[in-house]
This record gives sequence, structure tokens and C-alpha cells, in this order.
Amino acid sequence: MAFVALEVLREEHRQIARLLDLFERLAVQGRRDGRLAAEPAAELLALFVHFADGLHQEREESCLFTRLFARARTVDERLALGKLCGEHEEERRALRSLSSSLLGAIYGRGGDLARFLAESATFVHLHRQHLADETRELLPMAERLLLPEDDAALLELYRGLEQGGPTPAVLAARIQQLSERLAPAGRGAASH
Ligand SMILES: [Fe+2]
Repeated sequence: MAFVALEVLREEHRQIARLLDLFERLAVQGRRDGRLAAEPAAELLALFVHFADGLHQEREESCLFTRLFARARTVDERLALGKLCGEHEEERRALRSLSSSLLGAIYGRGGDLARFLAESATFVHLHRQHLADETRELLPMAERLLLPEDDAALLELYRGLEQGGPTPAVLAARIQQLSERLAPAGRGAASH
């Protein structure tokens, strides 16, 4: 069956892939200007910390993975889930490191900017690999193991996680605004 709860994750993967493209744009502009543009840099980091590695990974870890661990039938399925949890941890560590050089990179401290640019390239690479792993392993496994009644239960858990933060529609609008700021239509990366 088509699980709405999994479609929510797929749509967020598309949004996160878009954010990773924008992160690369920000880095190109930062290298050119000798500092990061404050507003898009802070907005992107906020979206990575609180949306991609926050809300989205919480939907996976505390809602979906818990259910899949309970329904897993093989050692390989459990190992695959454990590996994805490890990748989430690695991304969070990389983000903490990026956050520590963010203000210096916005201010224009050369060392902080160089560190931020190097670490952002590693982060983008890691995160793209992780999205590919989830598309290849996690989502097909979830289609196999979830039961029809899991869909409504997962959506209810998702709603709990969204409390106190922006709605999905507001987040989508903010990502669109960032796109317009960092990658206006008709302008390629080479023109930045
Ligand atoms: Fe994910």
C-alpha cells in the first residue's frame, strides 16, 4: 500500500537535497566574497539543525525506526537500521562543528571561513550519501515491514513532533525563499 507517512519522508528528502544544493551555492559565494552572507547562512544552518537533522530525523528515529525495529525479521534489517542511526549521529557531529565556525565565517575571519568551507563540503557529501542510502534501503524496507494500521499511528506521532515549530507549509515556503535568494531562476552556479 502507499503509506502517507513514507511519502512525507520522501518529500522531505527532496527538500533536503535542495538545501544541500543551496549550501553549495552559499559556499561558492562565500569563497568569492571572503565571508558568508549572514542571512542565508544562518537560515540554512537553522534549517539543517532544526529541520533536516531535527524534525526529519526525529520522524525517522523516534517514530519509524522504533516501529521497524519491532517488526524487523532479519539481522540484516536490524543492522541496516543501526547503520542509518550511526549516519544521523555523524551528520549531527558535522553540523555542530559547522556551527562553531559559522559566526567567524560570517564576520570574515579567514581561518573560520576556510574551516567552514572545507567542513561544509564534507557535510554535503555525507548527507547526499545518506539520502541515497535511505532511498535504497530504508524506504523499501519500511514498505515491506509496516502494517496498514501503522500509517495513521505514524502520522499522529509526526504531528506531536511538529508542535511548537513551523508547519510543513511554512518550512516549504522558507526553502523556496532561500532558493530564490541563492539560486535565482536562470542564473547558473558559474554566474555567482
Ligand atoms: Fe531521511
